[in-house]
Amino acid sequence: MEKIIYSSVFLMYLCLQAFTSSKAEPTDFLSIDCGATSPYKDSQLGIKWETDDKYIKTGKTRQMREGPDFPKQLYSYRYFPSPRSKHCYVLPVRTETTYLLRVRLFPGFRGTSSVDLPVDFNVTFINNLFFSYSANTDTDRVDALYESVFYSFEREEIYLCLVPGTKGTPFINSIELRGLPDTSYRITRSSEVPQFMLLGGRFSMGPKPANRFFRYPDDEFDRFWWAAGPPSFPNFTTFTVDKSFIKNLSFVPYYSNSGVDGYNWPPDKALTDAWIGPNLAFQIKRSRVDTNKVYFAFYFMEIRPEVIKNLSDSNWWEIITYAVDDTSQDYVSISYNDPAYTAPLEEVVLDDNVINVNVSRNSSSAVDGVILNAFEYYYSYDFNISATISRDKIALHELQESFGLQDWQGDPCFPVAWDWLTCDYSEIQKLKLSHMNISGPIPANISNLVDVTEIYLDNNNLEGTIPKSLVSLPKLRRLALDNNKLTGEIPIEFQNKEGFTFTGNPGLYVTRPGTNAPVPGPLTSPPSAAAKSIRRADVPFLAMIFLASLSVIVSFKNGFL
Ligand SMILES: *[C@@H]1O[C@H](CO)[C@@H](O)[C@H](O)[C@H]1NC(C)=O
Ligand SMILES: *[C@@H]1O[C@H](CO)[C@@H](O)[C@H](O)[C@H]1NC(C)=O
Ligand SMILES: *[C@@H]1O[C@H](CO)[C@@H](O)[C@H](O)[C@H]1NC(C)=O
Ligand SMILES: *[C@@H]1O[C@H](CO)[C@@H](O)[C@H](O)[C@H]1NC(C)=O
Ligand SMILES: *[C@@H]1O[C@H](CO)[C@@H](O)[C@H](O)[C@H]1NC(C)=O
Ligand SMILES: *[C@@H]1O[C@H](CO)[C@@H](O)[C@H](O)[C@H]1NC(C)=O
Ligand SMILES: *[C@@H]1O[C@H](CO)[C@@H](O)[C@H](O)[C@H]1NC(C)=O
Ligand SMILES: *[C@@H]1O[C@H](CO)[C@@H](O)[C@H](O)[C@H]1NC(C)=O
Ligand SMILES: *[C@@H]1O[C@H](CO)[C@@H](O)[C@H](O)[C@H]1NC(C)=O
Repeated sequence: MEKIIYSSVFLMYLCLQAFTSSKAEPTDFLSIDCGATSPYKDSQLGIKWETDDKYIKTGKTRQMREGPDFPKQLYSYRYFPSPRSKHCYVLPVRTETTYLLRVRLFPGFRGTSSVDLPVDFNVTFINNLFFSYSANTDTDRVDALYESVFYSFEREEIYLCLVPGTKGTPFINSIELRGLPDTSYRITRSSEVPQFMLLGGRFSMGPKPANRFFRYPDDEFDRFWWAAGPPSFPNFTTFTVDKSFIKNLSFVPYYSNSGVDGYNWPPDKALTDAWIGPNLAFQIKRSRVDTNKVYFAFYFMEIRPEVIKNLSDSNWWEIITYAVDDTSQDYVSISYNDPAYTAPLEEVVLDDNVINVNVSRNSSSAVDGVILNAFEYYYSYDFNISATISRDKIALHELQESFGLQDWQGDPCFPVAWDWLTCDYSEIQKLKLSHMNISGPIPANISNLVDVTEIYLDNNNLEGTIPKSLVSLPKLRRLALDNNKLTGEIPIEFQNKEGFTFTGNPGLYVTRPGTNAPVPGPLTSPPSAAAKSIRRADVPFLAMIFLASLSVIVSFKNGFL
């Protein structure tokens, strides 16, 4: 097992967010009801929901008949019938901030306006697989909820992309982005390998299992806390707290000595009741096996009046929490003589499919019995920060402006390239814009794509001259400009050069050898077979490399464990 050393400095990361278009202001509490027709306020929770049109430029919206079972935002959705390699939301974030990102998918109950099944697709954020979704039959018509925690580093926006699979039309119901305090989930900004984490479970321990789910405003950061109590954990005794007593507790962060206040900031509501027992042991079955890192945070706060009364300088209360696999043990030992306490167990690395948690008393402790108020666990992954290099991103951005291709959003190359691009890892290699009905001039700084080897702009309505700057592209070996409305002289370097085709542009001319006089008139060489064969529909979804398959993690309706 290993523990991660934390540091707030992360040196490796290179900022690639060089530009943004019509950027939305970042907020630490962004709630998007995808497909909704107008914004509204959830009167029960006090959360303001926005429509999603500001954040995505593709897809269609649909409203389903609202039912009693789920919140309003699940009854509308955006779906993506057009066969693109991906559809991306652009979400504004603040730099150097830890975020909770929550996505919910509900295909609706069978009938009017619900999503057609079967369907499968992947959802990624910042080139990391968030989850793979698949729904096949009506029994899959449940509220599927996914949460991740990540650090923004230098980013001012993130991309949340839906990548179509083999069946059906991708869809999405809601997106929530919550900024968390600086000290939260520090593993996500580790100086070694930053992690992003996908929620396994988040529980408030207490005596009653039913109806104790809570979120905002009880948790000011709107984390979802599920109730964990008997009968799901029948072997534990539980304890209910006198509310008046709880109010008097001061909240002393475990890490206050090392200057890290608050740590994960569990909400008071998660701490004000607990499981109490001689020792507490339970098992968690892993639902994801594509990582061997599971992050746990356990929250302890002494709430038993008889124990608190008894605590003194000479009377320490010690508990030990183990989260173990079969071969090794990791533990946190917590000792205190102060009643208010929260403590995390940082990260444990577990190889087994079953995680055993055992909260036990140190035999030398003065107090009988142990306590556990709340805990969370996440599957932890190395954060893949791959992105298209900013030089190419900027050049493509200008190209999109000239050609009216602004509705292609997200990182050009990751997690899968736009249909009209081929990337060599993070550099643009081929530009395939044949038959795209684009018009206007070819921007001169297309030549900033210095690694490009093939450019297909044939069969469009392009006007103006062929930019001289194209001549400077060192690797260019194919240029198809056939069947446009280009005018002027073909750069001398491109004349009679194999792979460079210009037919079907009546206004283009070549320089006649030995004279300076232009020779007007159309060129006659036929379009090459290569140019003909590159069509949008042929672009395969090959460039995708994902982390591993994940299964649906949580059904809000069905609960955990
Ligand atoms: C989705 O992700 C899984 C796991 O990485 C991968 O095997 C699969 O090919 C992906 N599917 C699509 C459509 O990207
Ligand atoms: C709970 O107690 C029963 C018997 O009382 C035992 O069989 C079972 O293993 C216990 N479960 C746990 C998680 O300790
Ligand atoms: C908590 O504080 C209230 C007044 O603020 C007081 O009446 C009550 O006795 C206190 N409870 C405990 C357990 O100290
Ligand atoms: C939990 O740990 C204590 C102390 O190490 C041990 O006595 C007890 O048997 C353990 N319980 C389980 C279920 O592993
Ligand atoms: C139990 O407490 C004793 C005395 O405080 C301490 O020396 C020992 O390290 C503790 N054991 C564990 C496993 O924390
Ligand atoms: C209080 O502390 C004393 C001495 O340390 C110990 O004997 C007693 O069991 C403790 N009482 C409780 C309720 O823990
Ligand atoms: C990040 O993702 C890209 C493609 O999606 C892959 O080629 C690369 O190996 C990944 N890097 C790491 C460190 O996993
Ligand atoms: C091509 O673009 C023009 C405007 O630039 C538009 O009027 C026309 O409908 C488009 N044609 C197709 C087939 O998309
Ligand atoms: C690209 O060209 C436009 C106008 O032609 C110019 O304003 C812009 O500065 C150029 N950008 C770069 C990066 O050269």
